[in-house]
Amino acid sequence: MKFSIKEVKKVVVATMTLSILALVILFQGSSQAAGTTAGDGGETYKAKCVGCHGADGTGNTPAGKAMKVRDLTSAEVQGQTDAQLYDIIAKGKGKMPGYEKPLGADKCKELVAYIRTLKK
Ligand code: HEC
Repeated sequence: MKFSIKEVKKVVVATMTLSILALVILFQGSSQAAGTTAGDGGETYKAKCVGCHGADGTGNTPAGKAMKVRDLTSAEVQGQTDAQLYDIIAKGKGKMPGYEKPLGADKCKELVAYIRTLKK
């Protein structure tokens, strides 16, 4: 069986289109995966902070109430600068442990950004 030049061209174009599509899908998949590992303060918050501060940041948990944590969504807390919030998260304050050592500076910065999203 013989193919004409036209048919060969069609096959080449189809193969190229398919491989470009495959590349685009692969690329999207990898950028999505990167999105969940880097820059997601919400995941860290859920893992490390909800016990005392509550999922919504209001501190409405038994531990939060016992330690009288301030509502992270409130104007008092949100009124502080990023640097102030970062310091509390990184170095700790009162009964709150510091998280710079176990999590690293980048994760602490992500947590500041996440707390900003809790603002009422
Ligand atoms: C063991 C309980 C506990 C855990 C876990 C905890 N905190 Fe706290 N947090 C506190 C307490 C208690 C305070 C109040 C400290 C004070 O004012 O003396 C506080 C204060 C804060 C403040 C300052 C709020 C204010 O009063 O201005 C921020 C911001 C904060 N925590 C963020 C976090 C983040 C982010 C995490 C998770 C990495 C976390 N906390 C984990 C107990 C905790």
